[in-house]
Amino acid sequence: MIYTITLNPAMDRTLSVKKIRPDDSNRIAEEQRYAGGKGIDVSRVLTTMGVVNRALGFVGGFAGEELEGRLLNEGIVCDFVSIPGETRTNIVVNETSTGNQTVFNARGPEIRPYELMQMIHKVEKVEDPEMVVISGSLPPGVHPEIYSKIIGISKARGARVILDTDGDALSAGIHGLPSVIKPNIHELGRLVGRELRKKDDIISAANSVLKQGIGIVLVSMGAEGILLIAEKEQYLASPPKVKVENTIGAGDSAVAGFVCGLYRDKPLKEALAYAVAAGTATTLRPGTALCQKRDFQELVSQINIRPIQAE
Ligand SMILES: Nc1ncnc2c1ncn2[C@@H]1O[C@H](COP(=O)(O)OP(=O)(O)OP(=O)(O)O)[C@@H](O)[C@H]1O
Ligand SMILES: [Mg+2]
Repeated sequence: MIYTITLNPAMDRTLSVKKIRPDDSNRIAEEQRYAGGKGIDVSRVLTTMGVVNRALGFVGGFAGEELEGRLLNEGIVCDFVSIPGETRTNIVVNETSTGNQTVFNARGPEIRPYELMQMIHKVEKVEDPEMVVISGSLPPGVHPEIYSKIIGISKARGARVILDTDGDALSAGIHGLPSVIKPNIHELGRLVGRELRKKDDIISAANSVLKQGIGIVLVSMGAEGILLIAEKEQYLASPPKVKVENTIGAGDSAVAGFVCGLYRDKPLKEALAYAVAAGTATTLRPGTALCQKRDFQELVSQINIRPIQAE
């Protein structure tokens, strides 16, 4: 079984207004609600691809109930830890006359130590963990070392672990030696402490992280695709040029594509093509919509993969 972990999920509330008028009342033309969170998006794309998985995380209050109910209606299997704090709601304001999108990210409820331990015990007990995907930021009150702890437990239980996060959570999480990490260029730059501009620089930064004991470093580079850096194989995979609608969730979809490939025992090169195809398939869809199976299937044969020089 594949498990995804989202410690700080959110309801995303999107408000569309024609033109924002400061110091005045603004009429909302349209309003949408969406159950968000990076691991949850991975679960969604896996489910779309027909890969059975379970979403773990914390939910609480009315927004938490709504989030879980919406996921159930989408056919996403959840196994959340309930907390008394209210699941956060992020606000996205779409100004339709300009196309500008402004996002207000909420912090999320504080996780108490005993709630954190409930999550740890869940990871210790879940049935047959073959792959564990840990995605996104940490909620308030949780130390960055938590990901390293979850990685350790999952690995001891025989799971391969994929970590997709940023900042302190990524640098501390790496101590747990995840099987795969998927930083984008900026996240990798923050991890190694310098800005990465040229391809060679990105490759050498990814190799330096790999040498710390990570199995595979995937560096996603937007329209340029993904670099796969492993000890014996190194490739650059690029998507064809497409008409991009919206890139929200492209990184999470790429993680899901790679997980799907690994889970089906595909060679690394093919799993990489799955990752790029799933990421790019998501960019074809407007708003928060994610990868569609048909787009993924069309794109996967069009991914250009070339070996790069191992260091
Ligand atoms: N403009 C684009 N054109 C084509 N494909 C894209 C584009 N942007 C993203 N993708 C696809 O999605 C993948 C992941 O995108 P990206 O590198 O932007 O991830 P990310 O920064 O982690 O995104 P996220 O904000 O979702 O976490 C890319 O490797 C590529 O396959
Ligand atoms: Mg990302």
